[in-house]
Amino acid sequence: MSLADTSIQDQVKSYYGKQLKRSEDLQTDVTCSKPCIPLSKSACEAMTLVHPEVTQRYFGCGLVVPEKLEGCKVLDLGSGSGRDCFALSKLVGPNGHVTGVDMTDEQIQISRKYISYHQEKFNYKEANVDFVQGYIEKLGAAGIQYNRFDILISNCVICLCPDKKAVFEEAYRVLKEGGEMYFSDMYASEPLDEKLKKDSMLWGEGLAGALYWKDLISLVKQCGFSTPYLVTASHIEIKKDQVLQKIGAVKYASGTFRFFKVPLDGNTKKACVTYQGTVTEHQDQLRFDSIHTFKKDQAVEVDGELALVLKTSRFASHFLIQPIECEAPVKDNTQQYCHLNPFLLADRLGSSIQKCSKTQTDGPCASQTKATSKEAESKS
Ligand SMILES: C[S@@+](CC[C@H](N)C(=O)[O-])C[C@H]1O[C@@H](n2cnc3c(N)ncnc32)[C@H](O)[C@@H]1O
Repeated sequence: MSLADTSIQDQVKSYYGKQLKRSEDLQTDVTCSKPCIPLSKSACEAMTLVHPEVTQRYFGCGLVVPEKLEGCKVLDLGSGSGRDCFALSKLVGPNGHVTGVDMTDEQIQISRKYISYHQEKFNYKEANVDFVQGYIEKLGAAGIQYNRFDILISNCVICLCPDKKAVFEEAYRVLKEGGEMYFSDMYASEPLDEKLKKDSMLWGEGLAGALYWKDLISLVKQCGFSTPYLVTASHIEIKKDQVLQKIGAVKYASGTFRFFKVPLDGNTKKACVTYQGTVTEHQDQLRFDSIHTFKKDQAVEVDGELALVLKTSRFASHFLIQPIECEAPVKDNTQQYCHLNPFLLADRLGSSIQKCSKTQTDGPCASQTKATSKEAESKS
């Protein structure tokens, strides 16, 4: 890591450790927790059980609650005060485990302070969550084991990391084969110019380090992962004039992507897949991303890569998968990644992130009904 990268990290550390005390302290009105897709009942409940001091210090930009968490080992990259870790520690159950990694001393201290509170609240004999201080670019050095985790989550952190390739390479190493990275982050509508990338105030808020959305796709594939799938997205509204002047024509969106560590020698034949309705709380259908919703007992054709993802991930036992013998499809490169553009999806879902409080009433479950009907409308 270069000296410049280290000084960016020091600034970010001081920002999240010393300057910000509550979600509302963010200068750029960019983070919020309103979902554009409905959360399951148990996920809503888990969120509302998190201690208020932890929730007040939530600085994420999306929701990172994938399906089928029970019994899973989860790692949260940049766990902050631990809101997502504690909510997921409820959802993985007593046989699962959640580890949070964060570089900032103050954040780690807050999260550790509430471990026993949540253990008691969830009625667990032993705590199933721990917090490790370290850099997500160097998970091995922080003592995180390789090939160990079923799921990695992260919420508005990778936009704060100067060396994103190092983050995804380490993420790949710590995941088990078939494991998933499911994370929310901020994305830019175009590549950022050098002046913007060097602005220290914009770094703290994640705006200077946000990836141009298309760059995410090539980067994660370079690191060995499957193509990303876009789960949901929201526009980010920036209201502060000083910030708007600096960013010029660049727009920002929050996007939740998921991608998988699939076997390198895996068979990538197209397949006919049938969801069996067996994932808890998703009996009728399993919404996988913005373009794939698998209805119970309905056979659908998927491309070879998605077939491989389903076959090798924790979703395998919930699908019947029959390979289809056919020629490899010719790819239309101009259209290929439109469905991964968070700005287009945010338009379609009609949502935008504005300054909003992180209180329980305006929290992740408050706008669920509205979000569900908006999604239904956009599909019709
Ligand atoms: C925007 S906050 C999000 C925190 C948390 N995910 C949440 O949703 O509240 C970013 C967090 O990432 C941490 N962070 C930033 N860069 C990091 C790095 N390279 N390694 C570890 N932690 C990092 C910061 O210390 C901070 O706690």
